[in-house]
Amino acid sequence: MEVSLNSSLKDYNSFGINAKAKKLITVSSIEDLKQVLQQTYASELFILGGGSNMLLTRDLDKTVVHINLKGKEIISESDTHVIIKSMAGENWHEFVLYTLNQNFGGLENLSLIPGNVGTSPIQNIGAYGVELKDVFHSCEAINIQTLEEKTFSLEECGFGYRNSVFKQALKGEYIITSVNFKLTKKEHKIKVEYGAIKSELDALGIKEPSIQDVSNAVISIRKQKLPDPKELGNSGSFFKNPIIPIAKFKKLQLENPEIPCYPLNSEEVKVPAGWLIEKSNLKGYRIGDAGVHKNQALVLVNYGAASGQDILNLAHKVIETVDNNFEIQLEPEVNII
Ligand code: EPU
Repeated sequence: MEVSLNSSLKDYNSFGINAKAKKLITVSSIEDLKQVLQQTYASELFILGGGSNMLLTRDLDKTVVHINLKGKEIISESDTHVIIKSMAGENWHEFVLYTLNQNFGGLENLSLIPGNVGTSPIQNIGAYGVELKDVFHSCEAINIQTLEEKTFSLEECGFGYRNSVFKQALKGEYIITSVNFKLTKKEHKIKVEYGAIKSELDALGIKEPSIQDVSNAVISIRKQKLPDPKELGNSGSFFKNPIIPIAKFKKLQLENPEIPCYPLNSEEVKVPAGWLIEKSNLKGYRIGDAGVHKNQALVLVNYGAASGQDILNLAHKVIETVDNNFEIQLEPEVNII
């Protein structure tokens, strides 16, 4: 267990915000984690995973616990499937590559998503037609108050679009310590319906893609559109894609025939926030070191010295402009602290 006082969190959040923690503890075992939980009031705690989905707008006058639990193992396997466990502190993309190297299928569309395995269920990460819930088997978590260990099944997690029970009814009550995935060993279900993947594979002349081909296509698309947090601080999509009534969408479509949408059900559609922001002339917009990314308007970036408050001010400007133009209220996808 490593403990430091008055520590900068700059290297612990993908926005690269230079906020400070009163106390920073890195835990590498469940025993250490339990010891910290026993010694610290729940109200004093701040749990930190990969730091890739949050915006720090202030210093944290708390004990920040960095979850650094490592390890992965095969729990069980049949002829066709494998249940594979990863501890919460493993880097997401490294874990995806590890499964692909063994020809286990299911995570290929989720390649190159920043962050750690342990935080993936909290917002049910998703990309290119696949969500975590499609490959999730179960996860283990510790209750912050009682220290009781509990296994959550798929149903118990209540997954929705960028949502789960860990963001709702059980918010702040559990720390996820490991996640179990159900992956295929053969007859992999290749998912290339998402437009960009198909055209990427077509361009490479690949007709019958393997899971590795799909992963490579996703990596290439993400690299073109999404900035690498190591080079330009960001948290991926800053906003959720808003869900609007079909009647409202049809009205928008009359004025903007090219507006893209993701059909949801008979009453609602999801509209890309990136399109709304670009159409509001904010793509590439910048206030000081806080900016709207020039290739993907859904992503806010830190050009270097932006504070969390600078990014938040820019987010408010984006929300207000899109609301004025389209009467649609964007909601942040990242956790604002
Ligand atoms: N678009 C624009 N301008 C932009 C960005 C997008 O017009 O600046 C249009 C695109 O042309 C396209 C549509 O919006 O027609 C959708 O764009 P894209 O395929 O890039 O996906 P997205 O809806 O913007 C979502 C996820 C991403 C995920 C991609 C791919 C959310 C909030 N975001 O973005 O997730 O990688 O789909 O599946 O659902 C993340 O959560 O951090 C993230 C990056």
